[in-house]
Amino acid sequence: MEIKNQTTVADFFLLGFSEHLRQQSLLFGLFLGMYLVTVLGNLFIILAIKFDLHLHNPMYFFLANLSFIETCFTCTITPKMLVNIQTQHHTISYTGCLVQMYFFMALVLLDDFLLAVIAYDRYVAICLPLHYSMIMQPQCCLLMVAASWLCSHLLAFPLTLLMAQFSFCASHSIPHFFCDPLSLLKLTCSDTHNFQVMMVIEAALSGVVPLTCVLVSYAHIIHTILKIPSAGGKHKVFSTCGSHLTVVTLFYGTLFLVYFQPSSSYSAKSGMVTSVIYTMVTPVLNPFIYSLRNRDMKGALWRFLSWGKCSTA
Ligand SMILES: *[C@@H]1O[C@H](CO)[C@@H](O)[C@H](O)[C@H]1NC(C)=O
Repeated sequence: MEIKNQTTVADFFLLGFSEHLRQQSLLFGLFLGMYLVTVLGNLFIILAIKFDLHLHNPMYFFLANLSFIETCFTCTITPKMLVNIQTQHHTISYTGCLVQMYFFMALVLLDDFLLAVIAYDRYVAICLPLHYSMIMQPQCCLLMVAASWLCSHLLAFPLTLLMAQFSFCASHSIPHFFCDPLSLLKLTCSDTHNFQVMMVIEAALSGVVPLTCVLVSYAHIIHTILKIPSAGGKHKVFSTCGSHLTVVTLFYGTLFLVYFQPSSSYSAKSGMVTSVIYTMVTPVLNPFIYSLRNRDMKGALWRFLSWGKCSTA
């Protein structure tokens, strides 16, 4: 009775992995490990880029931004989920849920825009090398990053505002481990027509525009690479783009898997598994993909580590 009184009507329940009672400690350990590696790995990349003058160029500034976004992204989702698993207390306040949904959407969109900016940067570097320093001036880079931040928040805000007006009269149990917009949509008893129209328009805008930019950039890049006569030259160009292409594929691949299936066949279970991939697996892979595949980055990490050793000695 007392517990019932404590939870106000507005609270939601994140059911998440509560069915898997026996695996709770395993899941907790696994997710905690991934969370720590993500945060430390990405922070490491940001610091390595900041303190290494060799890496003070647009590509690495964008990578640092990407690492920063991935860090924010996991921080909006994983800590709450870890607490829920550990305490077996699945409530999240109504406001907390909306805030989490807002940042989730804004950061996914931001990731999306930034991947397009990185693709454009690679396009200029490889296809127009002589104009690179003229096109990618610091103000221009800053402008692109700022525009990405602005657009992603401008797109996430109205959806959150609409969601805030919905009433949740029946169940408050979200069969997910975070406040996923689609799962919330299934719970409401209000008319969701406007929301869905808005979501489709935004998904089309934020999907088509950046993805086109990525595809066109890479089509040009591949065309240019094929024209390079030496195998060594081809390999060098490809190794810098390969890591970005891997990240792009992971990002769009998982998003398409989750959000581009007919909503009637959207099952909470398979949705949750794919969500684990893009909320936890992709962010944890990013630092590895970039640092292990990239010689400059590896060098910077070593220099950063040995610099740490020198200054503590
Ligand atoms: C993000 O990119 C901008 C523009 O290149 C740069 O000035 C800024 O330092 C970057 N932010 C981070 C966290 O690295």
